[in-house]
Amino acid sequence: MIDQKLRPRRMRISANMRSMVRETSLSVKDFVYPIFVVPGTNIKEEIPSMPGCYHLSVDKAVEAAQEIDSLGIPSVEVFGLPEYKDEIGSSAWDMNSPVQRAIAAIKKEVPRLMIVGDVCLCQYTSHGHCGQLCGHYVDNDATLKLLQKVAVSQAQSGADIIAPSDMMDGRVAAIREALDENSLTNVSIMSYAVKYASGYYGPFRDAADSSPQFGDRRAYQMDPANAREALKEVDLDIAEGADIIMVKPALAYLDVVRQVRDHIHHPVAVYNVSGEYAMVKAAAAKGWIDEPRIVLETLTSMKRAGADIIITYHAIDAARWLQG
Ligand code: PBG
Ligand code: ZN
Repeated sequence: MIDQKLRPRRMRISANMRSMVRETSLSVKDFVYPIFVVPGTNIKEEIPSMPGCYHLSVDKAVEAAQEIDSLGIPSVEVFGLPEYKDEIGSSAWDMNSPVQRAIAAIKKEVPRLMIVGDVCLCQYTSHGHCGQLCGHYVDNDATLKLLQKVAVSQAQSGADIIAPSDMMDGRVAAIREALDENSLTNVSIMSYAVKYASGYYGPFRDAADSSPQFGDRRAYQMDPANAREALKEVDLDIAEGADIIMVKPALAYLDVVRQVRDHIHHPVAVYNVSGEYAMVKAAAAKGWIDEPRIVLETLTSMKRAGADIIITYHAIDAARWLQG
């Protein structure tokens, strides 16, 4: 016989009861909103594969930053499309590139907004790989020297947090050393420690014009089948001085997020990537899903899995929905 004294439904009887026993809360303070900065002025062009996201010139990026701040979102992550590309991605550390100018302008106009600089080379190299090539292989140690320059240039422009997304070995230590040598000791490092070679990056690569011109990124990004290896990457990045540890993508890897959360004491970030966003937007446009409901459920699940910080293109919409 089932014991009818045990009734979990008592705890679901009303909205207030449910709110009293709710285990996870989602807040606008959890979000980082990514933006894409382009050369030129007065440009705000919607990205076809990412409806609701825009290519922004520096002046429009500042306007976006003001809106982000006014919604209570604490942070923005800046990606850029450069004016020129070459073999080593030298526009990535050009102080006159859109990213560096946008960081400086946002820091000046909206000083309390935490600015995350994405450090990688794939948007800036003519071949679209995340580092310097030696034949068809990305040369790890040569790339570290370039990443140091990118990180220092972004930090000197005003970035509060440096986020290396290249997956070279030893980049966190190399970047920490370069920042410290330049008296940038208060700039923190959010490492894309666990970054998988994922199909979910497709729309981003359209938006950032950063697809590899040959091959793929499997020789540096992680195999989606691996979780123990994720903990190894996390241990290394913490030993090298990472302040925040990121898992990317988010939704297909929430088991990894939970394992990382239980393994370390550092803040954990997840990146709710472009493909995850595009799928939701496409289904919502078809009228097949309730977008606000799906988005808030998904973001809450990332918190429940253990994320402290969620980098998401839904941040602006979600901030409005959370306000009611
Ligand atoms: C590359 C980079 C990627 C993303 C941001 N920086 C992935 C990649 O192209 O391999 C993906 C972000 C997204 O899909 O939203 N350094
Ligand atoms: Zn890259």
